[in-house]
Amino acid sequence: MAERLDKVLSSQNFGSRKEVGSLIRKGVVTVNGELVKQPDYKVNPEADTISVHGKPLFFERFVYYMMNKPGGVLSAARDSQAETVLDLLPPELARRGLFPAGRLDKDTEGLLIITDDGDFSHRMLAPKSGVEKVYHAVLDAPIEAADMEAFAQGLEMKDWTCLPARLRVLEEGENPLVEATVCEGKFHQVKRMFAARGKTVLFLKRVKIGNLELDPSLKTGEVRKLSFQERQAVFSRTPDSPAEQGEG
Ligand code: URA
Repeated sequence: MAERLDKVLSSQNFGSRKEVGSLIRKGVVTVNGELVKQPDYKVNPEADTISVHGKPLFFERFVYYMMNKPGGVLSAARDSQAETVLDLLPPELARRGLFPAGRLDKDTEGLLIITDDGDFSHRMLAPKSGVEKVYHAVLDAPIEAADMEAFAQGLEMKDWTCLPARLRVLEEGENPLVEATVCEGKFHQVKRMFAARGKTVLFLKRVKIGNLELDPSLKTGEVRKLSFQERQAVFSRTPDSPAEQGEG
């Protein structure tokens, strides 16, 4: 597909359209070995070799990052007051159009995907995709069999009924550590589900989306690119998801 050279370079983190325009006019950009000085020159970024200062560009239409989100940071593109997850990106990973695909509360930690691919995000979040999200939660009270049952049946909320979810106790005690697997992403979904059972979430961390697990080597606040396989893992069924067990 033919696109303007300045638009392509700007999309690849070379600066604003204006900055990129003057870069091109300076004569430091070649297309298939030929010097090009017109910002509106048409290129096919997937097929043409575009070089800046002699360095060939590795064109990426979209990028996909995994972040280990820290608490205290907003899952939003930009905010005039508060620090957002995009503020944490190292400059070499920053580019226009990035946004968090699905939000975590300010105090929630863990796996967050940041991308500029709206279709990917939409597909991941659409309830009909059935992509499961796994959370680890520390609660203010022990879990009982009735809680497990209620989660499995689909909790009755004030204005909706949750889809069936799974609950697993990882550490027993007065403040148990539990794993909740849900495939909805309503506002405060997990906190509200536990609140419906009379429990308060003291700490919440997302550890998995579909079959993509939070990389344990990624420190809080760190970001890295997702591989193609990891992107696909988001949409592959987990071994114990209902669809795999013939229930849906
Ligand atoms: N559910 C919540 O309550 N909060 C989150 O951040 C994510 C899921």
